[in-house]
Amino acid sequence: MVAEIAKTTRFERVRYAQCWEDADVLVDALAVRPGGTYLSIASAGDNALALVGAGAGRVIAVDLNPAQIACLELRVAAYRCLSHGEFLELLGQAPSGRRLCLYARCRSGLSRAAREFWDGRPALVRRGIARCGKFERYLALFRRAILPLIHSRATVSELFRLETEEARERFYAERWMNRRWKLLCRLFFGRPALGRFGRDPNFTRYADEPVWHSLQRQLPRALVTQRPAENPYLQWILTGRFRTALPWALRAENYARIRANLDALEWRCSAIEDVLAELPSGSVDGCNLSDVFEYVSPAAYESVLAELARCGSPGARLVYWNVVVDRHRPESMRGRLRPLTLDAARLHASDKAFFYRNLVIEEVCP
Ligand SMILES: C[S@@+](CC[C@H](N)C(=O)[O-])C[C@H]1O[C@@H](n2cnc3c(N)ncnc32)[C@H](O)[C@@H]1O
Repeated sequence: MVAEIAKTTRFERVRYAQCWEDADVLVDALAVRPGGTYLSIASAGDNALALVGAGAGRVIAVDLNPAQIACLELRVAAYRCLSHGEFLELLGQAPSGRRLCLYARCRSGLSRAAREFWDGRPALVRRGIARCGKFERYLALFRRAILPLIHSRATVSELFRLETEEARERFYAERWMNRRWKLLCRLFFGRPALGRFGRDPNFTRYADEPVWHSLQRQLPRALVTQRPAENPYLQWILTGRFRTALPWALRAENYARIRANLDALEWRCSAIEDVLAELPSGSVDGCNLSDVFEYVSPAAYESVLAELARCGSPGARLVYWNVVVDRHRPESMRGRLRPLTLDAARLHASDKAFFYRNLVIEEVCP
């Protein structure tokens, strides 16, 4: 079976050089069981690796884009060969003039396909392998070209220093949310610009509202309710680096845990639909589905969901996000999947990757 999205969209370049879903939320939502089997969309690899570090017995990472699998493979080789500091350099999170040398040390750990991919793209390695995706370049364009027209560096820095919610609320209303912010963000994060430069026009085909509308509703959560100083995703978008917080898989305390369990990870360059078709019933204890269902029709979504319910063991959890499309278990699957609405709402409130309008957690019924 060919994935519906693969019929209309080209997948060969790195679209996501890092994962843009909060792995703290994912690890909590999946309640990873030691020794359990998990299926994960690979994307750039960080969140499949977080499941490895959380103690899964087997993680099957899947992506239909070979460039994304090359991102995952290079991370795996880097966890094996590099120190934590060197790893952050290779990613582009720490300054470095020796990324090609670090890559050379990881190279022999790659499959032929991944080696050919990275050998042919030294400029991407030099830039930092977590900075080189289409989506990261789009965010960098926002930071370099748009943000300075709205806020000074001093204003951006101040946001990360405000300690109380009350101070942030005042700052947000009086300083941050000005007319330029509203106008330029509506243009930059509108469908034409986001589709062309950030994601793909096909990714919002089923949208029921403009991305900017959804984003605008989520912003107070990231800038006011949560502490920006603890939000790596917000820091990356506004300053180009993780400053005072890192995503789960990049933290020093998780580095050794991931490295020690790398043999639990396997990967397939294929559509999740095809991988599911091969998996025995009841064989999977949880799935990280990123926001793949946003891209597909309700009929395609429901047929994948039915397969996920078949492959899931009793109590297995499916975790996925929505930005501008409402995807959640249809009534016809009531006896097979149970929504964990309270857990999802609790975790959504703490979700530092603030651009999703909701998080869905569904459990396979016994
Ligand atoms: C769904 S995208 C989402 C990234 C980010 N959350 C966003 O909203 O822009 C993450 C990854 O899913 C992969 N993907 C999308 N549909 C897929 C499918 N049916 N099977 C396997 N991988 C898929 C893409 O190639 C991409 O690397």
